Amino acid sequence: MGFLVLVKGFCILVCFFTFCFLSANSQNGGRNGATVEGFVFIDGNSAIGRIDSDFICATLDWWPPEKCDYGTCSWGHASLLNLDLNNKILLSAVKAFSPLKIRLGGTLQDKVIYEDHKQPCIPFSKSTSELFGFTKGCLPLSRWDELNTFFKRTGALVIFGLNALTGRSIRSDGSAVGAWDSSNAESLMRYTVGKGYSMYGWELGNELSGNGVGVRVSADQYASDTIALQNLVQEVYSNQQPKPLTIAPGGFFDVKWFKEFMAKTSKSVDVVTHHIYNLGPGVDEHLVDKILDPSNLDREANTFSELQSTLRSSTTSATAWVGESGGAYNSGRNLVTNAFVFSFWYLDQLGMASTYDTKTYCRQSLIGGNYGLLNTTTFVPNPDYYSALLWNRLMGINVLSTSFSGTKKIRAYAHCAKNSQGITLLLINLDNATTVQAKVAFQGSFTVTQKRKIHSNGKNIILLPGENKIGEMEREEYHLTAKDGDLHSQIMLLNGKILGLNSYGDIPPLEAVTVNSSDPIAVAPFSIVFAQIPDVVLPACK
Ligand SMILES: *[C@@H]1O[C@H](CO)[C@@H](O)[C@H](O)[C@H]1NC(C)=O
Ligand SMILES: *[C@@H]1O[C@H](CO)[C@@H](O)[C@H](O)[C@H]1NC(C)=O
Ligand SMILES: *[C@@H]1O[C@H](CO)[C@@H](O)[C@H](O)[C@H]1NC(C)=O
Repeated sequence: MGFLVLVKGFCILVCFFTFCFLSANSQNGGRNGATVEGFVFIDGNSAIGRIDSDFICATLDWWPPEKCDYGTCSWGHASLLNLDLNNKILLSAVKAFSPLKIRLGGTLQDKVIYEDHKQPCIPFSKSTSELFGFTKGCLPLSRWDELNTFFKRTGALVIFGLNALTGRSIRSDGSAVGAWDSSNAESLMRYTVGKGYSMYGWELGNELSGNGVGVRVSADQYASDTIALQNLVQEVYSNQQPKPLTIAPGGFFDVKWFKEFMAKTSKSVDVVTHHIYNLGPGVDEHLVDKILDPSNLDREANTFSELQSTLRSSTTSATAWVGESGGAYNSGRNLVTNAFVFSFWYLDQLGMASTYDTKTYCRQSLIGGNYGLLNTTTFVPNPDYYSALLWNRLMGINVLSTSFSGTKKIRAYAHCAKNSQGITLLLINLDNATTVQAKVAFQGSFTVTQKRKIHSNGKNIILLPGENKIGEMEREEYHLTAKDGDLHSQIMLLNGKILGLNSYGDIPPLEAVTVNSSDPIAVAPFSIVFAQIPDVVLPACK
């Protein structure tokens, strides 16, 4: 039993042990009957990271209907400027998170003018000769009012991305010169405060860090602009506590650029945001292969790890967020980034980001493009919407060091539970044919609480040393599979039942199945399992 070596002599080890199989709830259970056993090892001594309790964030973008990629125009009416904010499904979908963070931004944000009655308020229009393919566009204050009514109704926490290219000139080599002109941002901020609209954070710029995407701003200049933003927030919100966060730079991680930026903003930035599009362009026909390849998924850990060590070695007090992440750039890919298969990538990203102490993770997008949590035309939730909601309901703030032995095709994460004193596991099976029977082992001491009086025979349990009550415990499991086993399906099953809206457009309840804790967790081929074990109390979760 090789795992004993891993947990060393001083540890207590529990295995949940039998050969039961949760076939009733596992749609794809063992297509060819193959089963492997494995162990989830959880170090319960201390947390390796802490996420915000409102870790889940999604974006709204500025793209007009004329935004097209590779011949398809996937944004419809999903822009901040034209989205139907009274849609009932949209309202329920956002409310369900209580709260959802929403980051407003994207490529065109740096070209947005906020209506200030000093210049005409003209919408974006397509123009191939212009930076990012569109002219400058304007946010009418009446629309800003509507958006804020929507945020208030849904309880969303809002992060607004400001127009960081204002006042600069752009050289032909893509470098922007000059300082940010904050006067237009100031007028929006003062209007917002005057109206009593609540802002969670003001973020400066979109994808201008490092080499930039189209345009770049030097770290030194960006640092002084961020200090200017923080001063502005302090001034405009002088009578308010807490004040909105100052957030920057909302771009791709580049170690040299970020290091310099952090050194020069050590007291002036609350959150450092970075963007992730690690699967390449949406036009790539091999996106699914990339998602199903564990070593490919692992690669993004380098970025998280480098950013974490850059933060740690800096004097900054800032924390890290993923400010925008859509997996595949140029609007994603239809029937991949809005289908079941994308939950493998998305939930793995949420798990991985958490282990590197990322506080918040913003998914591109809430709606719009081919990577929306909601369908762009019908507003009906895509599979990733439910994946995010389950994460939001089950994964607590303390992140536990977790590994899996048995097969490389299992991705394993664990947090302290959100609604109990126990833990929640997230297991993702990337294998198309093998059911994994996962037993759980804890490193370090723990206690088992006993809520239910149930007959117990201790035979199926190994607990070293001491007695145990595992046979008397139950856990709650949420098995996610694709309809008909089709990875490209936009319909997801929870414990074998379709997740869909009722006729009123309400988000369905997410109901668990109860499983005897002495059974291993059966993770069917191409499935995702959240398992909450309410009665195991680890030191890290006290
Ligand atoms: C949105 O839903 C409709 C109806 O189910 C479907 O035909 C369409 O393909 C979906 N759109 C996207 C972009 O997924
Ligand atoms: C499972 O994946 C393997 C490797 O990619 C492939 O060769 C095999 O045909 C697949 N089997 C099924 C049942 O889809
Ligand atoms: C769990 O399974 C064990 C062994 O089959 C049994 O003794 C025990 O009563 C079961 N516990 C519950 C809560 O059903």
